Amino acid sequence: MNILLVGSGGREHALAWKIAASPLLARLVIAPGNPGMAAQGELRPIKPTDVPALVALAEEIRADLVVIGPETSVEAGLADALAEAGIPCFGPTAFAGQLESSKAFTKGFCDRHGLPTGAYAVFDDAGAAKAGLSQFQPPYVIKADGLAAGKGVVIAQDRAAAEAAIDDALGGRFGAAGSRVVIEEFLEGEIGSLFALCDGSTAMVFGAAQDHKRAFDGEQGPNTGGMGTYSPAPVFTPELVDEVRSQLAEPAFDGIADEGAPYRGVLFVELMATADGPKLVEFNTRFGDPECQVLMLRLESDLVPYLEACANGTLGHLSPPVWRDEAAICVVLAAKGYPDKPEVGTVIKGAEQDFGPDVVIFHAGTSRDADGTLRASGGRVLNVCARGETFVEARERAYAAIARIDWPGGFHRTDIGWRALAREA
Ligand code: GLY
Repeated sequence: MNILLVGSGGREHALAWKIAASPLLARLVIAPGNPGMAAQGELRPIKPTDVPALVALAEEIRADLVVIGPETSVEAGLADALAEAGIPCFGPTAFAGQLESSKAFTKGFCDRHGLPTGAYAVFDDAGAAKAGLSQFQPPYVIKADGLAAGKGVVIAQDRAAAEAAIDDALGGRFGAAGSRVVIEEFLEGEIGSLFALCDGSTAMVFGAAQDHKRAFDGEQGPNTGGMGTYSPAPVFTPELVDEVRSQLAEPAFDGIADEGAPYRGVLFVELMATADGPKLVEFNTRFGDPECQVLMLRLESDLVPYLEACANGTLGHLSPPVWRDEAAICVVLAAKGYPDKPEVGTVIKGAEQDFGPDVVIFHAGTSRDADGTLRASGGRVLNVCARGETFVEARERAYAAIARIDWPGGFHRTDIGWRALAREA
């Protein structure tokens, strides 16, 4: 098969790594990719939102399948344009993508289709939003309506901080994504991420993970796109998986099909396991980053048949995937200053040595000079991933690898997987 993979982050590097291992693959082209992904495929410098150029590239390479990595491509309508061109695509239409690209759409969708989620209110005016805080108890959850790379959520401990977050979001910090804000009930419980595939009608659970959103150890600091993940996710008992499948994932697929947009791709269900059962925190309409990295480390089955089946409507022909009976952990190395003002251009040494069979380094925001020097080019820069018999072993391997990477311009959390480690102890 000829496959075009769209995206350039650690999530896409993990997808490329797994796709490249498939015996079904003839040619992998990645747009735009990153320096680490050059080991898996041919890189083409096309932006994930340049829909006409991506469709032309898919036609040029006679792609049997296009795999959409990032939400920005979903929002830009890449799947819609590929459908018009008759090219199979793993990734939902822009309409279905509103389950991620508009928090207000999703909350209304939950109301329309009876999905459990927290109470909420939507505002496009700062004065009304501040007055609306009275409907909620602290801590206040303030979200920019649109895509904000995981940085559009503020959990404000008091009213003054909530009002500042409202001013910030509606004041243009997130561009068009912040033209509306959603204020939500703060949900108490443990957070988890379940992934489900859909081919337009058939659904299949496809792994679970937990992540750490705050920038610093001890769940302190600003929200980020994710500073680390681990899988399997201990919060997911078989009962919880079943509840999330039947109360959130399947109703979402049925509901979006009823609204005219059958879902083809992966739905990332972020939920709070509350005392009243699972409640939706948010949907994402693509794999999580860095959740995807630990899923790919643990996936024993070939990924490509699942991606292809979602695109072609044949998921019902496949058995559920087989997962390695091991723990996997991913520690994000971020540029100092992330998430607000990451310092780019700093030199990274030692990231491309052989760390052994159970450690994989995925690139996210990196660039390479003509002489081979590797540099930081974004906020989240490298993903150090490791597998082990236990979480303790996986964690030791990941942090031992980090100790061998020479990057004074970066920082990372030192407590990734603390919940899983506590349960293992
Ligand atoms: N790690 C959260 C996300 O991918 O949005």
